[in-house]
Amino acid sequence: MRLEDIKKIGVAGAGTMGAGIAQIFAIKGYDVVVTDIAEKFLDNAKKIIAINNSSLIEENIISEADAEKTIENIFFTTDTKAFADADVIIEAIIEKMDIKQDYWKEVEEIAKEDAIFATNTSGLSITEICKKINNKGRFVGMHWWNPPHIIPLIEVIRGEETNDETVDTLVELVKKIDREPVVVQKDANGFIGNRIQFAIFREALNIVEQGIATVEDVDRAMKYGLGFRYASIGPFETADLGGLDTFYYISSYLWEELSDAKEPSEMLKTLVDNNNLGVKTGKGFYDYPDGKGEEAMKRRDKAFYKTLRELHMKTLKDDLFS
Ligand SMILES: NC(=O)c1ccc[n+]([C@@H]2O[C@H](COP(=O)([O-])OP(=O)(O)OC[C@H]3O[C@@H](n4cnc5c(N)ncnc54)[C@H](O)[C@@H]3O)[C@@H](O)[C@H]2O)c1
Repeated sequence: MRLEDIKKIGVAGAGTMGAGIAQIFAIKGYDVVVTDIAEKFLDNAKKIIAINNSSLIEENIISEADAEKTIENIFFTTDTKAFADADVIIEAIIEKMDIKQDYWKEVEEIAKEDAIFATNTSGLSITEICKKINNKGRFVGMHWWNPPHIIPLIEVIRGEETNDETVDTLVELVKKIDREPVVVQKDANGFIGNRIQFAIFREALNIVEQGIATVEDVDRAMKYGLGFRYASIGPFETADLGGLDTFYYISSYLWEELSDAKEPSEMLKTLVDNNNLGVKTGKGFYDYPDGKGEEAMKRRDKAFYKTLRELHMKTLKDDLFS
């Protein structure tokens, strides 16, 4: 499949991720078909897209005309056969290995011979997910980040049998919709982003558990120091700018102090055991009484929009959102 032959995108699963993924392709002008197992999930996706659209318009990121395209270009159905003429099929269904494996087997019986198959799994093995299909060369990971209508990064993950053409075409497609592709060359758990995110999370917990700093101060240290820097430059650029000798000396005394825990920490386990799951239960590391959780999510999205506009908008505006 070549980039110029891609006209129609199938999105399986109309949840948090599927809705945003469909929205981005539709704004870009692709024909999109979204499937789910029941109408109520499709209705929910329509609502998510409408909410996303109104906040993108309010933030002056897309126009009313762009939003119209999501209505014109997306077809919603519970019939998987609608994928028969799709050129790329992106699966964003439940994160369960056996369900994904059976799902792809079913899709292979329906889809075009040369359609690209991409899974949005958060961390399951790409090689395992495609175990039951015949043509594994066309199967690839395509990991979007939540909220998918805002965050530019998409990780493209090569399974053991994924062929080069599939990876190359998908990378081109990601560029075409003005997202930022990175290629994960090995089918490793957590890909790039979640490996780094969870290394940070492990050490953040360790700092608090050892009494080195409070939860609030760890969050502030990230936002005003590291996060501020990482929104513009990555860890290797940071090291080059700081001086590799300095980074080498610091590594040689600091790494032995850092957590290398192999299990989730006590603090995290206790919170989860007590059903303190964060915003969704009203309490996690912080308290969220009376609608505070919703407020926190709105504040997060506003801050993300600001970063998108300030740092990434040029590429997005040039094409996708113009
Ligand atoms: N939520 C995140 O932050 C996030 C981020 C990146 C990747 N992901 C991954 O994306 C995928 C979807 O996650 P989500 O958060 O959107 O889940 P979700 O629960 O919001 O949505 C999943 C949807 O898939 C539907 N579904 C289940 N079986 C199906 C089938 N056989 N055919 C069609 N639809 C089916 C469900 O009805 C549901 O509407 C998962 O693999 C998840 O790990 C999630």
